[in-house]
Amino acid sequence: MKNKKNILVTGGAGFIGSHVVRLLVKKYSSCQIYNLDSLTYAGNLENLSDIESKNNYKFLKLDITEAEAISEAFETYKFDTVVHLAAESHVDRSITDPLAFARTNIMGTLNLLQAAAKLWKADFKDKLFYHISTDEVYGTLGETGLFTETTAYDPNSPYSASKASSDHFVRAYGETYGLPFIISNCSNNYGPNQFPEKLIPLFINNIILEKPLPVYGDGNYTRDWLYVIDHAIAIDLILSEGKLKQTYNIGGFNEWKNIDLVKLLCKQMDFKLGKPTGTSEQLITYVKDRPGHDLRYAIDASKINSELDWSPSVTFEEGLSKTIDWYLNNEAWMEKVTSGDYLKYYKEQYQ
Ligand code: NAD
Ligand code: TYD
Repeated sequence: MKNKKNILVTGGAGFIGSHVVRLLVKKYSSCQIYNLDSLTYAGNLENLSDIESKNNYKFLKLDITEAEAISEAFETYKFDTVVHLAAESHVDRSITDPLAFARTNIMGTLNLLQAAAKLWKADFKDKLFYHISTDEVYGTLGETGLFTETTAYDPNSPYSASKASSDHFVRAYGETYGLPFIISNCSNNYGPNQFPEKLIPLFINNIILEKPLPVYGDGNYTRDWLYVIDHAIAIDLILSEGKLKQTYNIGGFNEWKNIDLVKLLCKQMDFKLGKPTGTSEQLITYVKDRPGHDLRYAIDASKINSELDWSPSVTFEEGLSKTIDWYLNNEAWMEKVTSGDYLKYYKEQYQ
């Protein structure tokens, strides 16, 4: 990659981060890729077991809320590029523990910005702070319309408020100190290695275990779904060709009402598990709604499509089928991440 040598990826042991780290390590053998992660419940180094012995990969077990340690890492490894994904990422958890989201998503991002600004201040040339954010910062849409890069921020959950705040700080460091930055805001991701607190992997696991599928409210909430590898490809493209100070919206052109998505998932699972069609749908259970539940997210991804020639590579049916296959073939991964603390979380959230 042109003029980039020491790339720091934060949150690389998580869902999206692990796909980004794998892509960068394999594609850019002349760059050193550092994966900085504190390994919360959502971080799992097994996600990267296939590339952990590569010469251009190094794992740093550090917490972005610890300012001094972060500053030292910047001094030691002389990162010239930051791809920042580390975050608390689940809306339901942000409702029960908003302060944890402020600490990691806001203060953690500030610590990275401080360390980057300090190390780079003599010369910002060929440096980049690339901040990965979410479409949830835009709040909720009604039945029509799409989020564009100029939609006003209007976050509704502690999670989206903390991400919105971090986006604002990144932009402020650009304007105030000249820090070179790019931000991208992506829609809901799905795919291999996603922690089973999010809708799709949770429901895959519950179908395997023949447990209830807890649909919030009436199930008529809409999300725009993108296969995680297509997000990783978009991140790589923005990293190499994106314009400084720009925002790029990334989405799947793929809106689904939750209940329709769950029915499609049940159908595919019945087929793959050799069960009669309709079996898994019987597990659907309507439960109490999420407070402040955003009605609809949908991304207008025409900017990244026209400027960087990016579009999703798989249809939703294909991506969902690949995702189910991955979970069916990786039962040990699922068992590992759903033992211990997960059981307590599940009980508190759903019972
Ligand atoms: P994830 O929860 O799967 O992974 C987060 C990673 O960050 C984990 O490896 C965790 O250990 C690490 N982490 C958390 N706190 C940390 C800390 N204090 N210090 C160091 N590491 C820490 O999240 P994800 O779904 O992969 O999301 C990654 C990023 O992408 C987040 O910034 C999220 O806001 C954004 N995003 C996610 C989605 C989505 O659908 N999942 C969509 C758009 C944007
Ligand atoms: P989720 O995967 O948590 O992503 P986000 O809240 O960031 O969009 O949820 C996706 C949608 O599925 C959202 O409308 C909430 C809904 N949902 C359920 O109905 N039941 C569940 O158990 C979960 C986790 C989510």
